[in-house]
Amino acid sequence: MELEAEFERVLAADQRVEPRDWMPDGYRRTLVRQIAQHAHSEIIGMQPEGNWISRAPSLRRKAILLAKVQDEAGHGLYLYAAAETLGADRADLTERLITGRQKYSSIFNYPTLTFADVGVIGWLVDGAAICNQVPLCRTSYGPYARAMIRVCKEESFHQRQGYELLATMMAGTDAQRSMVQDAVDRWWWPSLMMFGPPDAESANTERSVAWRIKRNTNDELRQKFVDMTVPQAAKLGVTLPDPELRWNAERGHHDFGTPDWDEFRRVVGGDGPCNAQRVAHRRTAHEEGEWVRAAATAHAAKRAAREAGAA
Ligand SMILES: [Fe+2]
Ligand SMILES: [Fe+2]
Repeated sequence: MELEAEFERVLAADQRVEPRDWMPDGYRRTLVRQIAQHAHSEIIGMQPEGNWISRAPSLRRKAILLAKVQDEAGHGLYLYAAAETLGADRADLTERLITGRQKYSSIFNYPTLTFADVGVIGWLVDGAAICNQVPLCRTSYGPYARAMIRVCKEESFHQRQGYELLATMMAGTDAQRSMVQDAVDRWWWPSLMMFGPPDAESANTERSVAWRIKRNTNDELRQKFVDMTVPQAAKLGVTLPDPELRWNAERGHHDFGTPDWDEFRRVVGGDGPCNAQRVAHRRTAHEEGEWVRAAATAHAAKRAAREAGAA
């Protein structure tokens, strides 16, 4: 009772819950699930763009893309480490990912067809990730909040490199401009789905907001993303593929159409264009890395034995 009161006091005072503090089981479970899904998304998210590293059109673009994809690996690692502070086991989380028992963001189940997709992913997908993650810098669980601060700094670089690539292509040839427009047409709606289902259908939102894990609802964040992106699209000279998109002066926000939630449910449920490929690729990488893990474990054991001998 006393511990629970202390937990509630920490939340009410907008302070952080730390690994050794008492916390309700549901809070711990919710966080492990959310942080694991977030970590998996960073790791799986390396694949669609990694696909283009060997075919980047210049050394400069290749260096930028390599740095970006490596950042995503780093984000995955911070997040797995944050999940471990809650008692989760990283090997177990990986196992859940490669056996399809734990999810990752549905956005990474779409294919990257041209190099313009690299720009559009940076601009829209990393842009949506920023909208989602900036409020998480103030989430109630300390290690998660602190990881997010660094992640968000790197995400801003990701978004800018994408926008800069698109601006360059839009100043190029007609073929480049139509490549960009085609990529925008394909990625716009899946980007809006990144915020999750509408609030009315989101089972976990209310509880997560009460625990101050989430600071905003899905619909609030989606609106923020649309309002932020519309002027950027105008500046780039691309059309967002939504005939219902218009400024609503009364609300002080843009109105916009409804994403195809059936498609969202299908892709989340495993039936997107690339789900099987993404998970299979991750499973192969994990299996091929087995010898590295075995070698690192053997090395650590040897070193510990040597140090024990010296002492
Ligand atoms: Fe990331
Ligand atoms: Fe990113």
